[in-house]
Amino acid sequence: MIRSSLLALAAAIAFAGCSSGSGQQAKATPSPRATTAVSAIQNGRLIYLTGKDSRGVQITARPPAMFPRCAACHRANGAGGMKLPGGVVSADLRHKALVAEQKHPYTLALLERAISTGIDDDGEPLNPVMPRWKLSPRDLHDVSLYVLTQLH
Ligand code: HEC
Repeated sequence: MIRSSLLALAAAIAFAGCSSGSGQQAKATPSPRATTAVSAIQNGRLIYLTGKDSRGVQITARPPAMFPRCAACHRANGAGGMKLPGGVVSADLRHKALVAEQKHPYTLALLERAISTGIDDDGEPLNPVMPRWKLSPRDLHDVSLYVLTQLH
């Protein structure tokens, strides 16, 4: 159903483009939005390093995070190990620590859960210094994918 209505929509748009007269060559080129679209990994990288997604939306947490970006606590390379207030040390997010050395290795779904609810791969709550991030489904997916696949 969805697929057929999408096709109908695409056909309608294509038809509208054709029927609007001559000299419409420019309409065939991709829209600026399409050409600036970023991949999931690129969006995840931006969120991790800068705290802002590809649309410039600042990530937030409840309660508000002490630092507004992942890299501030986990370092750009994910090594973590930073001493934070309350004596807690930021976790190592590199593949070895999150997957290879874990009894219950992190998957994409487990990472999304940890980042958004603070429940770790063993089902235990993380220290509250690790913010409970309130991200859009897309941003949560993308930053989780970045952490899972790009930090070595
Ligand atoms: C204010 C500092 C801070 C920021 C900012 C922060 N974290 Fe954390 N994070 C921590 C601390 C501290 C821990 C370890 C908590 C513990 O030991 O219970 C942690 C743990 C984690 C864990 C669990 C690792 C494990 O071994 O179970 C993941 C995953 C994680 N952080 C991802 C992220 C991501 C992704 C972001 C950005 C969206 C982020 N963190 C931002 C401080 C931070």
